[in-house]
Amino acid sequence: MTDWAGHHPLDNSRRRFPPDGISHQEIMAKLDKAQAADVDVHDPRSFRPSYFVGREVIDLICEVQTRVVEQNVLYAGSSFPSLREIERDVIDFSLDLLNAPSGAIGTVTIGGSESNFMALKTARDAARAKGRVAEPFDVVLAHTAHPSLEKAAHMLGMRTRRATSSIDFQADVSQMASLIGPQTIMIVGSAPPAAYATVDPIPEIGALAEKHDLWFHVDCCMGGFFVPFAEALGQAVPTFDFRVPSVRSMSADLHKFGYAPKGVSVLLLREAALFEHQDYRFEDWPFGHYATSGVAGSRPAGPLVAAWAVMQKLGRQGYLDIARRVIALRQRLEHGIAAIPGLKVIGRPAAAHLFLASDEIDVFAVDEMLEAKGYSTARAWHPDSVQLWVSLNHDEAAIDALLTDLSQAADAAHRDALRARNREAVYSR
Ligand SMILES: Cc1ncc(COP(=O)(O)O)c(C=O)c1O
Repeated sequence: MTDWAGHHPLDNSRRRFPPDGISHQEIMAKLDKAQAADVDVHDPRSFRPSYFVGREVIDLICEVQTRVVEQNVLYAGSSFPSLREIERDVIDFSLDLLNAPSGAIGTVTIGGSESNFMALKTARDAARAKGRVAEPFDVVLAHTAHPSLEKAAHMLGMRTRRATSSIDFQADVSQMASLIGPQTIMIVGSAPPAAYATVDPIPEIGALAEKHDLWFHVDCCMGGFFVPFAEALGQAVPTFDFRVPSVRSMSADLHKFGYAPKGVSVLLLREAALFEHQDYRFEDWPFGHYATSGVAGSRPAGPLVAAWAVMQKLGRQGYLDIARRVIALRQRLEHGIAAIPGLKVIGRPAAAHLFLASDEIDVFAVDEMLEAKGYSTARAWHPDSVQLWVSLNHDEAAIDALLTDLSQAADAAHRDALRARNREAVYSR
């Protein structure tokens, strides 16, 4: 047993460094054993997050990752000029997709949390350079803002002022306005947040940012490579990107709907001049110049090169086709749920996931019945809800099978006034 931090509570249970090497075959057997209890992401009864868009994309990812397995993005400038070029493509493609004006700039990071961290750090240092606001600086967040923003503020010596509720599962902009104080330098909206999946009213938050001269960051980690295509398909979403003039930075994860493997995201800045507040340089080291623009030093080339390869394999048309298929599956699920007495979908889902809730029955009891039938889902709170995430692992038959099982479970929960044994919602532990 390990505790949450992976530490062994008892020293005598510590596993020993392997004394002798073992064979490839033995390692694979150990891996099979270790993975036995993992969620099978390709099981059509898994409604947990999945960005699977087909075997061909996975094969491409594996091939390019193998090619660069020994490269380090940290040494792009000295040893691997290809990575510089690839990084530049990835940034330019992202700026293009998110309607950044000319003069905008970007950085590749290892994930959404790092992109958000660097957005706060850059805003903080820009505010310090201006010197007009006293520290500690405040950041105003919507109720649903991702915890990585809280963590970043905590690590950077900033304070968050978080709205305590949403309106109709969307950011409560008037509450956010009331949280702006003399030390506020930044405000954040999400497109969409992971919680509720409903895009925040970015133009309205942008108007607040403009009025109070705040750094406006849009956390588009989840939606950066999905919402542009949903919008192009005619889905109703607020304008969410650099078209809103006060947006100063955006984070967007390639390892989500960019369909790249984990370990790649971008942070985009409206103006190149802002980059001086992001960049870090150290010149007094016996080994020479040190410059990085993120938290990491060494960075794996695999996820970056894979993102670059997938963007080019799919192109705008490929992303659009995937979004069309995912939205059709999600809507089939939404309409089916609306027809089941006692169940409802909250908010206005903008990506691949929705939250199932109920005013009449215990939705966690419904979740436990699904679990007993081999389904795998995630849960959320405020209100109690079950996250269902559709992907190209599903087809219409898989959605219809879920709807049948949901309907039976809702019926039983109603009839027998069932209550769940476990009421926990866990995002990460
Ligand atoms: C809106 C939003 N922001 C930030 C993050 C954090 O991203 P990561 O887990 O890649 O660090 C997520 C992750 O789901 C997210 O949905």
